[in-house]
Formats: sequence, structure tokens, C-alpha cells
Amino acid sequence: MRTAILISGRGSNMVALIEAAQAADFPAEIALVAANLPEAGGLERARLAGIATAAVDHRPFGKDREAFERKLDEVLRVNQIELIALAGFMRVLTPWFVTRWQGRLINIHPSLLPLYRGTHTHARALEAGATEHGCTVHFVVPELDSGPMIAQAKVPVLPGDDEASLSARVLEQEHLLYPEALKLVASGEVRLETGAAAGG
Ligand code: GAR
Repeated sequence: MRTAILISGRGSNMVALIEAAQAADFPAEIALVAANLPEAGGLERARLAGIATAAVDHRPFGKDREAFERKLDEVLRVNQIELIALAGFMRVLTPWFVTRWQGRLINIHPSLLPLYRGTHTHARALEAGATEHGCTVHFVVPELDSGPMIAQAKVPVLPGDDEASLSARVLEQEHLLYPEALKLVASGEVRLETGAAAGG
């Protein structure tokens, strides 16, 4: 499955996916890394790994999210992408884009969804006095961080934890979880049941 990874930042999950996909029997090929910020550090890391990259800057499109996504979609199609893995891609996608890629669009989120959708998940877990925390890979649906779960990993919250220590513990699990989840989706072992398809 020709897979694109979309990033906005340093791309440590991206690196984990690229490395996992190098195994001969991995069912996804990382064919493209695209970023909405040309300065995203992960783009250079992808280039060094020999992966094709693209930058589609969202800023010139202003508030017109769909216009940005049409450009992004074009880049994905030119590169014959079949599956998209969001890895620290910090743009909310419109229903137009999400519907277009439904079932072929997955995301990693740094919390045990449905807890702590949105941002600042580690700070919010600490503030809530949580004793466990973690990360989730899920199918993307139009409602933010709400799609069906593919895989989840838990970590303990330890006494004395701050945002930095907790996020590092979660990130370590993200790097293990995301390749496993991508494998499940790319191999067809896990599929998104849409309303219509679930009828039978
Ligand atoms: C990761 O922790 C990822 O789960 C999170 O951003 C970080 C990106 O790090 N994603 C979100 O918060 C999406 N809502 P990375 O660039 O090193 O992979």
C-alpha cells in the first residue's frame, strides 16, 4: 500500500514508521512524506531516509481550509497514495477531505481516547490526577479525535511526573504502537466499517 505520512513538526513517529516499513514483509510502503509547514524538521529527516517529500504550506490559503486540502489532495493523488498516516499533523481536516479518504486515513493521538481529545493531553492528564495515560491510533472521521480505535498503548503516570517526563514515556510507546497499527490497516486485517458497508 502506497502510504503517505503527513507531519507538521519533528517527525519522530514518521521515523518509526519509515524504519518499520523497511522490513521486507511490511505491508505498507512509505511513498511520500508531506508537511503543511515547509520548515517542519521531519521533512529533512525523510529526505535523508530517501523518501520523497512535499510541502504544502497552509498559510497562503488563510481561512480556506478546503482550498489547502484540495492542493494537498492533488499532491497525494499525483503520488498515487492509497493510505495516509497522520503523524503529528496539527491541522484539523474538513469533512470534505476526511470523507474522501475515509477508511484510508489514520492518526496517532497522545492520550487514551476518548479521554483528552484535542491538544495539551499530557498536561490535562496530570491535572486530572490520572494514574494511567497513553496513546491511541484511530481511523479519522469528521469529528475531531473521535474515529474508531485501531490500537492503544497504556503507560503509568508516576509520582513526580511532569509534562516532559510523561510525554517522553508516551512517545516511546507511540513509536512501537504506530507501526503495528499501520500494519493492521495496510494488510487489511483491520478495516473501517462504514454505515453502508456494515449492513451485511
Ligand atoms: C506525537 O506525540 C503525536 O501523538 C502528537 O504530536 C506528536 C508529534 O510528534 N499528535 C497530536 O497531538 C495530534 N493531535 P512527532 O512529530 O515527533 O511524531
